[in-house]
Amino acid sequence: MATSAKIELRAEDIKPQIGSRVLNTKDELLSGELGDALRDLMEQRGVLVFPQINFTEEEQVAFTKTMGRFAQEGDREGVTKITLDVKENPSSAEYLKGSLYWHIDGTRNDVPILASLLTCKVPSPKGTGNTGFSNTYTAYDALPDERKAEIDGLTVIHGPWASLFYHTPEPSLALLENYQRIGEAELPLVWEHKSGRKSLVLGNTAVAVKGKTPMESAAILHGLRDWATGPEFTYSHEWEPGDLVIWDNTGTMHRAEAFDPSSGRMMLRTKLEGEEPWASAG
Ligand code: OGA
Ligand code: MN
Repeated sequence: MATSAKIELRAEDIKPQIGSRVLNTKDELLSGELGDALRDLMEQRGVLVFPQINFTEEEQVAFTKTMGRFAQEGDREGVTKITLDVKENPSSAEYLKGSLYWHIDGTRNDVPILASLLTCKVPSPKGTGNTGFSNTYTAYDALPDERKAEIDGLTVIHGPWASLFYHTPEPSLALLENYQRIGEAELPLVWEHKSGRKSLVLGNTAVAVKGKTPMESAAILHGLRDWATGPEFTYSHEWEPGDLVIWDNTGTMHRAEAFDPSSGRMMLRTKLEGEEPWASAG
């Protein structure tokens, strides 16, 4: 009996502390054989880039399922349009304004989504609309031991309403209440994962560190965000049509870099269900 040749993962590092480029063909990726290896690589590297892989919407859904459990957004299984253009996305273009600032997706869920996958349909003009990624595992690891000791065990209140003030500093009460209805969650500042590795839980949904004054709290949250988004721990992806990028939402932050909302920039997203709850806070 002939033994079938096993497909090898082919990838190269983008930067020492974050990002890998995956070089396998579309057929190899859709075979499903690489699902486990890709998950491991994503956890190690934070972000995986599949240059101009040109998945159709159906292929993106099928590929997502090779890596874990598909997380449905909206009322049907498929890709979600990510755009700031209100004509294209009347219901969530407002909410997506928060994506222009460093964040983690789904901080309101007890089990945050494992990963997001974004395909570029239409990029904004070059030099705008990159997506930035920060590796919050390597950023934590590189902190001095004294700093780790100061922040281990702290609890942070997160709420999408905190992100509103980044883009709308003087919201109406009605708009504020819309965001506040989504609720809040108490999350560990340092997430010790089942694997034993630790990552920082930060971003524009962070309201305050419990037990600290507003000034102390801001210095901790913004100081760590400033650290984790420094050049060593970050990668900024300049999009070509057909690129796919996947990030480990449990060990990275991301943001869209500024672009003109009327540029036509259009991305298609799928997500993987989370598998691990935030480690118990406090
Ligand atoms: C997202 C997101 C960033 C971008 O889809 O969750 O934050 O660059 N996208 O569109
Ligand atoms: Mn996001």
